[in-house]
Amino acid sequence: MTGAIRPLVAGNWKMNGLTAQLAEAQSVRNGLGAPPPVDVMICPPATLITPLMLTLKGSGVLVGGQDCHSEPCGAFTGDVSAEMLADAGATTVIVGHSERRAMHGELDRIVRAKAEAAHRAGLIAIVCVGETAGERAAGLTEEVVHRQLAHSLPDAATAANTVIAYEPVWAIGTGLTPTAADVARVHASIRERLQARFPGEGARMRILYGGSVKPSNAAELLAIDHVNGALVGGASLKASDFLGIVAAYKA
Ligand code: PGA
Repeated sequence: MTGAIRPLVAGNWKMNGLTAQLAEAQSVRNGLGAPPPVDVMICPPATLITPLMLTLKGSGVLVGGQDCHSEPCGAFTGDVSAEMLADAGATTVIVGHSERRAMHGELDRIVRAKAEAAHRAGLIAIVCVGETAGERAAGLTEEVVHRQLAHSLPDAATAANTVIAYEPVWAIGTGLTPTAADVARVHASIRERLQARFPGEGARMRILYGGSVKPSNAAELLAIDHVNGALVGGASLKASDFLGIVAAYKA
């Protein structure tokens, strides 16, 4: 079943990247060579979406946004709507990243509204879920992840318009990763929930793993059942590291 799902390796540059960073994207483009057997995506800061589109034009590498407002337009100073991202050329937007949840107080219902906005604008929503270190220590990993899934995913989610990213908060930017057995257990439980709520679609939705993915651990993490790709933060800023992760699929 998992074999039929086309994996996605998405790089999230977060609030990193001035114009000079486009050189890394150019190197990703050059380094990919033949079209890889996976979707490859870069999610730059909103200021770089348009120039990144030009850098990647014709390469097949996709461009995504990192967040969006739930409304299409209006008096929301500093925000960017899903329609604006789509207009700039993005195909996808990340919503509910743990940094947004923690630093901007985004609750599940807000994340859900953002995912609905993404769909309204014709974008794929990458919906992030994951437990904190404390929740993990208390044995609450599955409970937290299942609750986030239940309340953050729109009812209209399909395999074509929605991607799940399981990102243990304690693994983000720390160099720590769960064991392969832990990742397998959580991803299998996510798959179960998706299949129960979205009959037919849930079996085909991509479930990415995120949190300290790097070239040295990508092959092991990406080979796990129900891991259909990666959401990569720090290692996506350097073309050689990002390409090293994508290469896990060629091996
Ligand atoms: P990291 O970030 O790869 O730097 O751990 C992952 C993420 O936040 O998506």
